[in-house]
Amino acid sequence: MFKAVLFDLDGVITDTANYHFLAWEKLAKQIGITIDRTFNEQLKGVSREESLRRILKHGGLEKTFTTDEFAQMAADKNKNYVEMIQAVSPQDVYPGILSLLKALRRHDIKIALASASKNGPFLLEKMALTQYFDAIADPAKVAESKPAPDIFLAAAAGVNVAIQETIGIEDAAAGIAAIKAAHALPIGVGNADILGADIAIVGNTRELTLDFLTEVWENDNNI
Ligand code: BG6
Ligand code: MG
Repeated sequence: MFKAVLFDLDGVITDTANYHFLAWEKLAKQIGITIDRTFNEQLKGVSREESLRRILKHGGLEKTFTTDEFAQMAADKNKNYVEMIQAVSPQDVYPGILSLLKALRRHDIKIALASASKNGPFLLEKMALTQYFDAIADPAKVAESKPAPDIFLAAAAGVNVAIQETIGIEDAAAGIAAIKAAHALPIGVGNADILGADIAIVGNTRELTLDFLTEVWENDNNI
């Protein structure tokens, strides 16, 4: 049986993936770049700086700005995003997530956050979920962001569980790649076109029950 679940946040626990998109869309527009939701799939799970690099490249402006201007744009996006998430509340937690967290606790399965977002701890507070998390991996302290495995390895280390004994839950292609690279067992939230047909996927977080996780684990381990 798995001993810990490593959660992504944006797009898994709540709908903040949408706010990230809206904040980037606004920033991009100010510099004359249009981004759509298809392009946005490439930004999901990716760090703030790498997201901005990808947007600039998308608009052919990767050589236009100084380091200071780049930092200012990343700060502007975050300011806008942080304004958007002020109103996040426990009601914004995706369906099924709170009952999964409670079930995991009842079964003594550790819970850790493996989000690339520096706003993760603030959001958990806003959603009144902090108490359920045994560890929050700090994205500022890992060498490489998703798709590298670092943040998932840090999350497993934070709860003292071997990575092979964990499940990682992600909505982003970069996140699934990170879980695979870490050698945790991935579960995707979304669809197979984006996340791959070779992993367990739910279309809705409602399906993320302890029974479902157990079934995925047992299938993978040929139990
Ligand atoms: C990830 C999001 O969880 O966090 C990305 O999927 C985001 O879209 C990244 O860029 C970093 O977040 P933040 O809040 O630190 O800018
Ligand atoms: Mg995500």
